[in-house]
Amino acid sequence: MKVAVIGTGYVGLVTGVVLAELGNDVICVDNDQSKLDSIQRGESPIYEPGLEELMRKGIHEGFLTVSNSIADAASKSEVIFIAVGTPPGDDGTPDLTAVRAVAKSIGQAITHQTVVVNKSTVPVGSGELVEQIILEQGVPAHLFDVVSNPEFLREGSAIHDTLHPDRIVIGAKKKEAAMRLVELYATLEAPMVITDLNSAELIKYASNSFLAMKISFINAISRICELADANVADVSKGMGMDKRIGSQFLSAGLGWGGSCFPKDVLGMLSTAKRYGYDFDLMQNVIDINDDQTLNFVRRIEKRLGGLAGKRIGIMGLAFKPNTDDIRDAKSLIIVEEIVKAGGIVSAYDPIAAENFKRVFPNIEYKDGVYDVSEDADALVLVTEWNEFRQLDLNRLGSKMKTRVLFDGRRVYKRETAERAGFDYYTIGSR
Ligand code: UDX
Repeated sequence: MKVAVIGTGYVGLVTGVVLAELGNDVICVDNDQSKLDSIQRGESPIYEPGLEELMRKGIHEGFLTVSNSIADAASKSEVIFIAVGTPPGDDGTPDLTAVRAVAKSIGQAITHQTVVVNKSTVPVGSGELVEQIILEQGVPAHLFDVVSNPEFLREGSAIHDTLHPDRIVIGAKKKEAAMRLVELYATLEAPMVITDLNSAELIKYASNSFLAMKISFINAISRICELADANVADVSKGMGMDKRIGSQFLSAGLGWGGSCFPKDVLGMLSTAKRYGYDFDLMQNVIDINDDQTLNFVRRIEKRLGGLAGKRIGIMGLAFKPNTDDIRDAKSLIIVEEIVKAGGIVSAYDPIAAENFKRVFPNIEYKDGVYDVSEDADALVLVTEWNEFRQLDLNRLGSKMKTRVLFDGRRVYKRETAERAGFDYYTIGSR
């Protein structure tokens, strides 16, 4: 099939590259020429394991091309994906400026039968909005259909998630339009949910809000475990073995961050409010998440007898492993709190340091994890990178002022850390 994907961010580029891999003719469109140049050179503008290789393959085999013109791409395509950013506005409602602008350009370009697919995470009713904007450009209703096809890929495993989705959600007014997408995804052999536009849009918000709620729930339990001298890992294991609960997204830690959960939980809240329903539960989910990180900082502060003048080594800055993304990363809050209290931060992350430097140019950045421990009063593990699991803890502690380790992701076994002479603190257990 001939496909255009507007927006070469996370969702757009991965979608374009995977659809090219499945044998479609894909044009990736962006108004940022530097991104297109980078794709053209075979360099992925974002870090994602496996993406660059597949992207190069698509370009080499001629299935993947780039363009800076929506009109050009639309004239050559049967299906156009909108995959542009929808950042949260001041009240949490996603900002649809980019979606509106793209819909207008598509409307000005449609000359033949086209399916316009909304892949960006958008509030309920956005499919209707896109349809309206295209109609306003004078396109007859019979010439196009708008379909909602939300994305569920995770950063760090985006290619795998796109090639092996748990389900594909397709929302459309007309069955024929939905069937075009069924055809496009047929080779993935994934279960498909075909529904109306509003339900498809809501599935995305409800799914991410539920997952964030699951994490906040286990984090609240982790606090009770700390107070009751129980172990959250065992509680989580015991809960997760119940198939109705499931073991995934039940790892207690510093809380959830990233480009989706914070935005989508807020989006869920504001959507509910717009329809006159107070979804207080979601506000609690946010509050628990915020408090989880701040409580950890308070514990560090208490153990060190204040943070002023204390040197703290931060292990990991990315919001989760295998990405250089620091959007809503817990490291941002932890570093901010330490700096605010007069502490000295020395940080290491395998790939996210460059992004972090733009927000905190004045903290110390080290090239290796053993360097952050030098003269440190405490180490704080924020991101559970695999390389942190294999460390020689004796070596890690050898240059520290005091061997204090705060493990925000429950990476180490207490006995191992204590054997290496550390005073070990974690989440959800003694
Ligand atoms: C998420 C959704 O999983 C994905 O379906 C959607 O398309 C985009 O948002 P992503 O943000 O890439 O994906 O990361 P994910 O792996 O879901 O982790 C989100 C956050 O939750 C991270 O900060 C992670 O550290 C945290 N998390 C996850 C936990 O604290 N505990 C868990 O058990 C799982």
